[in-house]
Amino acid sequence: MTATLAPARVRHFVSLGDLTAEELELLMRDATGLKRDPIPADAPLRGRALGLIFEKPSLRTRVSFEMAMVQLGGHCAYMSPAEVGLGRRESVADVARVTSRYLDGIVLRTFAHETTEEFARSSSVPVINGLSDLSHPCQGLADVFTIRERKGTDRGVTVAYVGDGNNVCHSLMLGVALAGQTLRVATPAGYEPQQRYRERAAEIARRTGATVEIGRDPAAAVRGADVVYTDVWMSMGQEQEYERRRRAFQGYQVNADLLALAKRDAIVMHDLPAHRGEEITDDVIDGPQSVVFDQAENRLHAQKALVRWLLGAHR
Ligand code: CP
Ligand code: NVA
Repeated sequence: MTATLAPARVRHFVSLGDLTAEELELLMRDATGLKRDPIPADAPLRGRALGLIFEKPSLRTRVSFEMAMVQLGGHCAYMSPAEVGLGRRESVADVARVTSRYLDGIVLRTFAHETTEEFARSSSVPVINGLSDLSHPCQGLADVFTIRERKGTDRGVTVAYVGDGNNVCHSLMLGVALAGQTLRVATPAGYEPQQRYRERAAEIARRTGATVEIGRDPAAAVRGADVVYTDVWMSMGQEQEYERRRRAFQGYQVNADLLALAKRDAIVMHDLPAHRGEEITDDVIDGPQSVVFDQAENRLHAQKALVRWLLGAHR
C-alpha cells in the first residue's frame, strides 16, 4: 500500500470564525496601511496567482480580488462555472488538488457552503470563501473595517441589522462579535440566522465582551444604533421564493422613518447589490448617512490585507 501525504497544514478563510480577535486586529491595521499606501513598493505577491472559481455572479468580489492581486504584484485567474463544472465535470476534491498545483490561493463562490468546506479539505493552498449560501466572510471583513473607520473600535458601538438572517448577516454576527461590539439583529419569523452561527457568535462574544442579540422588532434594533445595516430579502439562488419573501419582509424596510430612530450621526450600510424600493429606499441609500460605496471600496483594502497575509505566509 502506498502511503499518501495529507496536504501540508494551510490556513484557509472559510469563516470569519477562523480568525482570532488578535488576527482580525492585525488585518484591520494592515488594511488601514494599504488604504493609505495602496501599491507596496516591494510587490509582495510578485509571481503569485489567485484563482477565482465562481458558481454565482459577482461584481465587487471578483473585481476587488483581481485589483488586490494587481496592486500587490500578483495575478488572478478567473474560472466561470461553465469551464470548471465543480462537482459535475470533475469532483470537488480533484479540482482542489489540481488547482493547488498551479495557484497560490483560491477564492470560491459557491451555492452549498459544504462545497467550499470540501474544497478546503483537499486544497494544499489557502482557500478563501468568496460567498456561500451560509456565509460571506470577505464582506464581513470589509464591514468591520468600515465600522471601525467611521465609528472607531469603542466597545459601545452598536450595529443594527434589519432583514434576512442570511449569509451576510451570519458573517456580520461573527465580525462584530470578534470586534467586541454590539449587534442587534431583527428578522421576520422563519428568517432568523442559523443556530450554528448564533452559537459561534455567542462563543466568540463570551471571550471578547461583545453582545449579539436576535429579535423580531426592527424599531427596537435600530433605536439608538450607530450603524444601520440591511441586505436583500432574496439572495442569489432564492429566486423561486421571491413572492413569499416579499410578503414576509413587509415592515423590515430600511427607510427614513426607521432610520430616524437611530443616532443622528448613524451610518447606513449595505453590502450591495441592493434591491432599491425593497429592503432599502432610494432616499436612504443615496442619502447623507449612507456609506455603501465606501463600504464597497473597502472590500479592496481589506482583501489586500487578507491575501498578503494568507499567501505571503505560504511561500
Ligand atoms: N457584496 C458582494 O459580494 O458583491 P458581489 O456579489 O457583486 O461580489
Ligand atoms: N445575500 C446576498 C449577498 C450578495 C453579495 C446573496 O447571497 O445574494
